[in-house]
Amino acid sequence: MQTKLSQQPLEQIEADALVVVAFEKEDGAPAGPPAVAGGWIADLYTSGEFKGKLLDTALLYRPSGLKCGKLLAIGGGKLSAFGSAELRNLAGAAVRVLKPKGCRTIAFALDAGFASPEHIAAAVEGAFLGDFETDRYKTENQDERKTVDSFSLVLAEALPEHEQALVRGRVVAESQNFTRELVNEPGNRLSPSLLAGHATRMAAEQGLECEVLDRARMEQLGMGALLGVAAGSSEPPVLIIVRYRPEQPAAGGAHLGLIGKGVTFDSGGISIKPSENMDKMKYDMAGGAAVLGAMRAIAQLKPGIPVTALIPAVENMPGGRAQRPGDIVTTLSGKTVEVLNTDAEGRLILADAITYAKRLGCTHLIDAATLTGAIVVALGYVNAGVFANDDTLLEKVLAASKAAGEKMWHMPLDDEYKELLKSAFADMPNIGTRWGGAITAALFLKEFVESTPWVHLDIAGTAWLEEAKPSLAKGPSGLPVRTLVGLAMSWEA
Ligand code: BES
Ligand code: MN
Ligand code: ZN
Repeated sequence: MQTKLSQQPLEQIEADALVVVAFEKEDGAPAGPPAVAGGWIADLYTSGEFKGKLLDTALLYRPSGLKCGKLLAIGGGKLSAFGSAELRNLAGAAVRVLKPKGCRTIAFALDAGFASPEHIAAAVEGAFLGDFETDRYKTENQDERKTVDSFSLVLAEALPEHEQALVRGRVVAESQNFTRELVNEPGNRLSPSLLAGHATRMAAEQGLECEVLDRARMEQLGMGALLGVAAGSSEPPVLIIVRYRPEQPAAGGAHLGLIGKGVTFDSGGISIKPSENMDKMKYDMAGGAAVLGAMRAIAQLKPGIPVTALIPAVENMPGGRAQRPGDIVTTLSGKTVEVLNTDAEGRLILADAITYAKRLGCTHLIDAATLTGAIVVALGYVNAGVFANDDTLLEKVLAASKAAGEKMWHMPLDDEYKELLKSAFADMPNIGTRWGGAITAALFLKEFVESTPWVHLDIAGTAWLEEAKPSLAKGPSGLPVRTLVGLAMSWEA
């Protein structure tokens, strides 16, 4: 899909479809229908059929007085509540309405009130994200698949910063779609080694360094927790490391470490999961895929801070060599863990990756992981859970998440919860009791982070959309790629 900025008057636009945002009527606000196509939208309002509610749509074929093939009015909701996040969703929804109708060229009109660089980036992101489908393994009608060839934003003036925002939006959204493509891959098509292959190829394409530690190397280093999880699978584990080094590192000496859980399939191991919904556990590498997607964008957008990504990748399977409940493993840090439940595997592989990230010199750590069902109980599918041991880094992450339109909610990590993490036979168990499960998982990770500033993102409820949204297909959401990229890009500021 090509993207561009256009300054043509709406009447002159020859696209297959022109999209205009129409707002809900609000007391005291001038928001009304945009004046296009001979008052057609005004008539829609008068009829009561269309009120401009967020994501409402109405489509007019061959609008009189315009050169476009179709005119789509899309509801913007209340103007006073309208921002980049809403615009991103509208652009995505417009693509998802118009693409099935065969529209190959789409022009989206941006009113002066929402044509800032941030708005432009968000609209472009929305278009690319809306365009993404999960149909690569559907063999029917492959040749007749509809595509959108061009998406243009129509606005009054196009300054260099507007053009830059267009490119930025495109890079971020294409990287997020790269993540979604990986997350959607089923276990038989994405083993740890194949994930390493994707990372290696991406890194080569983007000019990043990539290193893959194999089992022998990890044995030598003593990554007993990661290797314990991998023991039951005939797929060998890997630790994928991707490095971005800025040409001129910003002052301050910070080095960001992004760690992503890469369980390519989580059967639960010997503590096996029920078969219902087990198929979904192909998305247990969503954190790892998000970190890789973020690196892809970072390579192109070139922030001033060095960033190292670490993805511990394993398959969690039962089998004759699998680790057993009760096993005690020695982690890379030297701390011992009693594996009371082999289904709490994410924290085990992350523990060793966190220790290794510190050894590589990372000064600030962010991890993203589909870590617990408990975070879904706590926050549902709307917010990712955020845990932190450092307020400054927490604020940075929350600001980036807000700017990116990826919702997150700060969760507690009080020492009192540590009561729940006691082992009779090792330094700690890998599970707590039933309650506060997302918190005890985070506290477990904290034992390995120690004093390094760290933020943990539990994305079990937000990495996968159970249902399609107007703006997004069902399946992998690609969270939190935008937050991670935004964090790296805004680091100096
Ligand atoms: N990958 C799961 C967590 C998960 C659950 C992700 C639902 C996405 C949707 C994780 O490895 C897991 O199995 N966690 C257990 C921990 C428990 C054994 C303490 C859980 O949440 O049930
Ligand atoms: Mn598990
Ligand atoms: Zn898991």
